[in-house]
Amino acid sequence: MAFPSALTELKGAWSVDVSKTGLLLGRAYRSGNLKKTEYWQYTLEDALSLVARVPVLAARIFCNVFKNGQHIPSDPSLDWAGNYAQMLGVNDSDKFKDITRLYLMLHADHEAGNVSAHTTHLVGSALSDPYYSFAAGVCGLAGPLHGLANQECLRWLKNTHETLKGQEPTVELLTSFAKETLASGKVIPGFGHGVLRNTDPRYTIQRQFVQENFPDDPLAKLAEVCFQAIPPVLEATGKVKNPWPNVDALSGTCMQYYGLNQEDYYTVVFAVSRALGCTSNLVWSRLMGLPIERPKSVTLDWLSQNVK
Ligand SMILES: CC(C)(COP(=O)(O)OP(=O)(O)OC[C@H]1O[C@@H](n2cnc3c(N)ncnc32)[C@H](O)[C@@H]1OP(=O)(O)O)[C@@H](O)C(=O)NCCC(=O)NCCS
Repeated sequence: MAFPSALTELKGAWSVDVSKTGLLLGRAYRSGNLKKTEYWQYTLEDALSLVARVPVLAARIFCNVFKNGQHIPSDPSLDWAGNYAQMLGVNDSDKFKDITRLYLMLHADHEAGNVSAHTTHLVGSALSDPYYSFAAGVCGLAGPLHGLANQECLRWLKNTHETLKGQEPTVELLTSFAKETLASGKVIPGFGHGVLRNTDPRYTIQRQFVQENFPDDPLAKLAEVCFQAIPPVLEATGKVKNPWPNVDALSGTCMQYYGLNQEDYYTVVFAVSRALGCTSNLVWSRLMGLPIERPKSVTLDWLSQNVK
């Protein structure tokens, strides 16, 4: 099996690699004997094998890209997330395993309507195999407004930290940095949400972990001041519906503290987590017999009559 040596090849690798080893749903369908009521069973089998394989594949790619191909074997005596943390080879501590467990649980899914989960659902609604459906979802995760936001957020914090040149971060300073980001036409990563209208509870859980384990880390302290400074700046724009921090505001800070500082890899960790949520949704969709999905389109006449 060929593994890529660059992160950009990851999405392709997933769909190619698994085509040789999974895809039970597709095979069963092609056998000609598969009943509609049985779709979910093959979807479940594919989902389970995919979830089991993804951490191994993702760790292998990490080691190819960042560790000169020095791989750490999978340890079946460890749990799914702990084993993944160990295979990355960046930190042997139990705390790194703990934060990886927390990360993988918190990023698994949120309401199924987000870009990656919904894309997986959409492609799966055509009865595409879970492996292909999830590969499509991972492509959506690569967008900076979605899965890439955690690395964007860490980059924003690091740039701000460098610009501060040792000054203690204050609400006043952070307010002015946030205003500069908005004035340059960019979004402030780690804040805002498509549906939440308050602080993301996943942020609150990570914040608690940070406060309990490394409250004095410079980036953790900076993120804490951001929590006070940024929401009023976003609120003052009058258009941001949710000015509060989201799941991505602290996850990069947590990973870098424990030595996983290869930011380009963060979205891959997100994808490992999302494999759980996206494929669980697929199993439920097939179990409930949900139909193929297709948004409605309207005519120009309908638009001119109904949209004023
Ligand atoms: C998550 C996000 C994409 C939701 O977008 P949305 O549903 O369109 O959010 P809203 O309805 O509140 O957006 C209204 C306006 O506020 C802006 N806005 C929302 N969040 C913002 C942020 N964090 N920084 C700057 N502007 C923001 C939007 O870009 C939009 O501007 P526009 O009308 O000029 O296009 C958006 O909040 C965002 O870009 N956040 C930063 C990226 C991020 O953290 N993503 C991870 C989400 S879990």
